[in-house]
Amino acid sequence: MSKVDEFLNAARHLLGERGLVTDPDLVEPWLTDWRGRYTGKARALASPATTDEVAALVRLCAKHGVPIVPQGGNSGMSGGATPDDSGDAVILSLRRMNGVRRFDTQARQITCDAGVVLQTLHETVEVEGLRFPLTLGGKGSATIGGLISTNAGGTQVLRHGTMRAQVLGIEAVLADGTVFDSLTPLKKDNRGFDLKQLLIGSEGTLGIVTAATLRLLPALAERAVLWAGVGDLRDARKLLLHAERMAGDALEGFEVLPRHSLASVLSYNSQARAPLQQAHEWNALIELTADASTADTLAALGQNLLESAMERGLVEDATIAANEAQAEAFWAIRDEISLAERAIGPAKQHDISVPVADMADFVVATMPKVEKAFPGTTAVAYGHLGDGNVHFHVLAAKGVDAEEWENGQGKAISAMVHDEVTAWGGSISAEHGIGQMKRDELARLTDPVHLAILRRVKDALDPDGLLNPGKLVPNSVQRSS
Ligand code: MLT
Ligand code: ZN
Repeated sequence: MSKVDEFLNAARHLLGERGLVTDPDLVEPWLTDWRGRYTGKARALASPATTDEVAALVRLCAKHGVPIVPQGGNSGMSGGATPDDSGDAVILSLRRMNGVRRFDTQARQITCDAGVVLQTLHETVEVEGLRFPLTLGGKGSATIGGLISTNAGGTQVLRHGTMRAQVLGIEAVLADGTVFDSLTPLKKDNRGFDLKQLLIGSEGTLGIVTAATLRLLPALAERAVLWAGVGDLRDARKLLLHAERMAGDALEGFEVLPRHSLASVLSYNSQARAPLQQAHEWNALIELTADASTADTLAALGQNLLESAMERGLVEDATIAANEAQAEAFWAIRDEISLAERAIGPAKQHDISVPVADMADFVVATMPKVEKAFPGTTAVAYGHLGDGNVHFHVLAAKGVDAEEWENGQGKAISAMVHDEVTAWGGSISAEHGIGQMKRDELARLTDPVHLAILRRVKDALDPDGLLNPGKLVPNSVQRSS
């Protein structure tokens, strides 16, 4: 029997027929990332049902030298959950591990398996009058393990922080198959390094997250969702400051959409309706929230905020969602940008941040610069202005060959955008992670001291390099330019 068959037989014995799939037709859907940018190969799709099974599989892989690519909802943005094309790896799907282990409504904490889907978590806690304060467009597929592994952001970071801020405890299987169990949340714990924080955002390169304890908040009593048409992105920034001053903690989200993104969604989804009559260069989507003590005054606050912003000339036109259905419809427009854009054609996506105060200036300066350097392209920036993070996408000229463009002009475009971001003191990955998409750019543009630490931590926790190889951590710590 070949070594590979020996491994597969042992894995099947361990996980059962349901837990180990080698049929190419069944493995195939999980070999390509959500954006359709990367396709790899794998020996098998392993779907353990428990942490013990994950640990046993990892030990088996270590024994046979088989690389592991952990995967949650496969909705990542940087190819972090897609194997390479060697065909050596197994995909380790956490989707079968989707149970709630403990739900403490008084402490407002929930411990769940890594494969729980974000939307399911929202619904589960809502029944008990609670909420999990992180959401994003991919909530119907993104899993808790994937969100932790990428330290996902989303549209409520402004008020509640990224995934890092929501995780109170973690359970993870390490490269040698041992289980790191730190699920019990302690408010104070100074026993050295915060190892759970090291695992959060490590993209499966240091360990496989199998469960987490998450913090919850009381359900909202009320929300007001505002849509404002704005002439200039710098005015949107002023509007944000104005909203922060007026609304304080009630300000939960502040997103911007350029005219192009709104138009993309309207043509992609025939059910979608523009919130305002006229098109504006920029749109701001603002969410205010209230608990029981402030619910009565929320609508007035929203009204005042918009009226005073208009008096100051920051807003051209604005509306407040009349009811919950309309509020959802406003957010659906925002959440559908990615899908709508994907339908238009090839584009280079850059998930970037610069200091919050500089983001409007960065966008205003960089969009025309890129379009001038690459005639026929269209630069579009949208998203989390309040976090100093926009999705800076550059759409190809019409009619290009997608693959040729990606590997030619597309690469040059990304290099230019990343150079600009670096010159402005920013990050080439604000929230989507490095994955395989940005690994070379990370190596090219990051301080060698930073890279050397990444490498040393990786070598210490995964000396054989079997956990998600080729992702995040550059092989070399030398700057390539
Ligand atoms: C978003 O903010 O919509 C997501 O991060 C996905 C993206 O469009 O890049
Ligand atoms: Zn985003």
